Formats: sequence, C-alpha cells, structure tokens
Amino acid sequence: MKTFFVVLGASIAFFLTVAMFGTAGWERPPLATTQNGFRGTGMDQIHTREAVAEARAANAAPAPAEPAEEGGDLAGQTYENVKVLSGLTTNEFNRLMVSMTEWVAPEQGCTYCHNTENMADDSLYQKRVARRMLQMTQHINSDWKANHVGGTGVTCYTCHRGQPVPANIWFTDPGPARPGGFIARNNGQNLAKPSVGLASLPYDTLTEYLADKSIDNSAIRVNATTALPTSKGKPIQDAEKTFGLMIHMAEGLGVNCTFCHNTRAVADWSQSTPQRTTAWHGIRMVRDINGNFMEPLTSTFPRNRLGTLGDVPKVNCTTCHNGQSKPLNGVPVVDAYPALTKVTVADGAKAPEAAPAQVPAVPGTPAAPSAPQP
Ligand code: HEC
Ligand code: HEC
Ligand code: HEC
Ligand code: HEC
Repeated sequence: MKTFFVVLGASIAFFLTVAMFGTAGWERPPLATTQNGFRGTGMDQIHTREAVAEARAANAAPAPAEPAEEGGDLAGQTYENVKVLSGLTTNEFNRLMVSMTEWVAPEQGCTYCHNTENMADDSLYQKRVARRMLQMTQHINSDWKANHVGGTGVTCYTCHRGQPVPANIWFTDPGPARPGGFIARNNGQNLAKPSVGLASLPYDTLTEYLADKSIDNSAIRVNATTALPTSKGKPIQDAEKTFGLMIHMAEGLGVNCTFCHNTRAVADWSQSTPQRTTAWHGIRMVRDINGNFMEPLTSTFPRNRLGTLGDVPKVNCTTCHNGQSKPLNGVPVVDAYPALTKVTVADGAKAPEAAPAQVPAVPGTPAAPSAPQP
C-alpha cells in the first residue's frame, strides 16, 4: 500500500512539473512579494522575480538630452510661429525639438511634424496635434502633480515610447455589427473582450467612466449606502461595469485588487491603501485629458486616426502605466525638462487657446485613507 502511494505521489509530481514547464500561465518561483497593506491582511503583490525584471527592462526611460547652453534670444523672437514655447531660449527650444523627435518620431524625424521648406508652416496635422500635446503635458505636470503624477511626471515618451501613435489607446467600442432581431441584443456585454480581462463583463466601460469630465462622481459604485432603496436604485449592470473598470485599472498597473482595496470591505476608504486615493484622482485626470485635450482635437486628426464611430483616440491608465504601478520605473523623467512642467509662453505673447485653467474642484473627494487598526 505504501509503495502504491509513493508511486502515485511521484507520478503526480512528475506530471505537474511537466505541466508547469510545458503550459502557459504558471508562476514559477522564485517569487518577489511586496506588502502594501496592513500586516496580516494579505494585501500583497506577488510577481515572479523574472517578470519584475522583464517589466523593469521593458520600461526603461531614455537618458535625457545634454542641457542646453545658457542665454541667448527667446524662441518667440527668433522664430515666426511659436505659440506655446515662446518663453524658452532658442537653445532650450531646439533641445526640446530634438528630444520630442526622439520620443515621438525617431524614425520619421523632424519631417513627421514639419514641412522642411518652411518650419513655421502649420499645414501638417501632426504639428497642430503636437502643439496641443505640449500644453497637455505642461498641464498634467503642473495641475496634476500634487494629486497624481508627483515628482515622476510625464514626458511625451511616457505615452509615445518612440512611436507617433502610443501603443495603448482606445476608442468607443460599438460592439460587433449584428443583424437586428430578438436575440441580437447583447446589452454591450457577453463577449470575451480584452478590455475587461476577457471576462463577459460590459466591454465599453471606458467610455462610461473615462471618456469625459462630466461623468457623475459617484458612478463607480457597487454598494448601496442605505439599507433600503430610497430611489430607483442602480441596475446590476452598473456593478458589472464597475468591475470591468477595476480589471482595466489592475491590469494597466500590473497589480491585483489588494494594491488598493482590503477585499473584505472593498468600498471602505479607511481600510484602503493610499494608492487608492491616487487612483481616484487618476480617474479624474484621465477624464480631464480625454475631455479637454483629446476630444477637442477630433477635427484636427485625419479620418483614419479616428474610431469606427468617428471618435478621437483616447488615453486610459495603461497609456502611461504600461503594466507598472509607476510609469517608467518611477524615474523622475521631467526633472531634466522644466519646460514641460509650466506654462512657457513669453510675456505679452498669446497662447493658442489657453489650457483649462485649473483642475476642476471635485465634490466628494475621499478623505486620505489611514492604515486600519489591528
Ligand atoms: C512631434 C512633432 C514635432 C517634431 C518631430 C519636431 N517639431 Fe519642431 N515644432 C513642433 C511644434 C508643435 C512647433 C511649434 C511650437 C509652438 O508653437 O510653441 C515647432 C516649431 C519648430 C520651429 C519654429 C519654426 C518657426 O519659425 O515658427 C523650429 C525651428 C523647429 N520646430 C525645429 C524642429 C527640428 C529641427 C526638428 C527635428 C530635430 C523638429 N522641429 C521636430 C513640433 C515638432
Ligand atoms: C498622456 C499621454 C500622452 C502624452 C504625455 C503625449 N501624447 Fe501625443 N498622443 C497621445 C495620444 C493618445 C495620441 C493619439 C494617437 C493617434 O494619433 O492615433 C497622441 C497623438 C500625438 C501625435 C499625432 C500622431 C499621429 O500620427 O496621429 C503627435 C504628433 C503627438 N501626439 C505628439 C506629442 C508630443 C510632442 C508630446 C509631448 C510634448 C506628446 N505627444 C505627449 C498621448 C500622449
Ligand atoms: C489602483 C487602485 C485600484 C485597484 C488595483 C482596484 N481598485 Fe477598485 N476602486 C478603486 C477606486 C479609486 C475606486 C473608487 C472609484 C470612484 O469612486 O470613482 C474603486 C471602487 C471599487 C468598487 C466600488 C466600491 C463602492 O463604493 O461601491 C469595487 C467593487 C471595486 N473597486 C472592486 C475592485 C476589484 C474587484 C479590483 C480587482 C480586479 C479592484 N477594485 C482593483 C481603486 C482600485
Ligand atoms: C498621464 C500619465 C498617467 C495616466 C494616464 C495615469 N497615471 Fe497613474 N501615475 C502616473 C505617474 C507619473 C505616477 C507616479 C507618481 C509618483 O511618482 O508619485 C502614477 C502613479 C499612480 C499610482 C501610485 C502608484 C504607487 O506605487 O504609489 C496609482 C495607484 C495610479 N497611478 C493609478 C492610476 C490609474 C488607476 C489610472 C487610470 C485611471 C492612472 N493612474 C492613469 C501617470 C499616469
């Protein structure tokens, strides 16, 4: 009998080992575990060391360009048609043009945005988009510094990574074209879509929650706050949409739900990590980017850059984070580019259309969560 169990055990171990090496999706040791919740709550991030090393290597920030020589005329005086960067010196201006080329269009070069016959010409849509992108980057690094991007900040590279079109963008998803009829309606769900981790959850949650800043601040909810319904209440689909968004956020940051939540009381802010507060502001920041910067560019982009419904390409958590909790390994990328952290229009010159002045004051800001008591 004993021999039987030894042989059985050994063969099971053998087949499991073969399966582990031969099939995908197995986490092979050694593991790297980081604890970010209160001890004993199981709020850990568990990754293989190999995956952590791979992610670090894939998200290395490029070295900043050599600092520009000091002094000299302002770009607004030297050049003809400078509307956003007129307050920089000509040297700083040229340094930024070289870095922008490296970040956004290294293969195409200056001609991706410029008509080289006349650099002042605005005929290429890429240049007009880039001008707005400069304002957007300045806005993110100044107005969202305290609540989200911190000292790390963003450059064009955070999203673009050496490509004119960032790898992680999204459009409103109208779902498959189906013939009409009784069983045709799928309510925007029940298709295994990558946007919700291949679950059958509603797949267009990003439009619902991240597309613009007019979205109701308490839309992302599952729990009722009263024992009995006081109004019509929320359909179950709202809960499903909330989970769809949460899957996007977790995947975009390369973390699991316990990075932000204590899963025994998901809604409770006092048991959540500080990262959940950062994420709360991140949701508002993405709405601000999409609503105030991307949306107004709809008519600037050529039709082939727009989605099936004619909507503009949009940003989500993955656009910057790319599977890491801090983009580009948390390296402070803007330090070497102060021009990207503030308004750089020379005194007296007029910016195209001013960037929205301030981050909208949002009611219902969660109180800073504190560590739960044991
Ligand atoms: C990603 C788009 C992009 C790339 C690539 C780019 N530029 Fe620019 N360039 C701009 C934008 C936008 C402006 C206008 C800035 C403003 O209005 O403040 C501009 C303005 C200029 C001007 C001022 C022209 C004038 O007289 O008004 C010069 C000079 C210039 N760029 C040189 C370069 C050089 C040289 C390169 C390649 C090393 C380059 N740019 C690459 C977007 C780009
Ligand atoms: C928060 C993310 C983000 C940042 C930061 C960012 N961009 Fe973009 N950019 C986008 C998205 C999204 C698009 C739309 C993609 C498309 O064109 O299909 C875009 C499009 C562009 C395009 C048009 C490309 C094309 O061929 O359609 C240019 C040019 C551009 N960005 C330049 C810049 C420059 C220059 C900077 C830095 C000053 C910058 N971007 C910073 C997200 C970003
Ligand atoms: C990066 C941080 C972060 C991660 C990771 C995260 N969440 Fe959330 N979650 C939030 C924030 C922030 C809110 C509140 C959003 C709001 O109010 O606008 C929230 C809200 C929720 C709610 C609604 C609570 C209520 O008040 O009714 C549920 C349920 C939820 N999350 C579940 C999950 C699940 C399940 C996962 C893992 C798949 C997850 N979350 C991953 C940050 C996160
Ligand atoms: C414009 C780029 C950008 C976008 C878009 C963005 N983030 Fe971030 N996020 C950052 C940067 C940069 C940091 C690093 C901040 C720091 O160093 O303090 C960060 C940090 C965070 C952190 C804190 C991580 C930690 O380890 O403390 C969380 C949580 C987070 N982001 C969640 C989100 C969520 C959720 C979304 C989408 C709703 C989102 N972010 C969209 C740029 C972005």
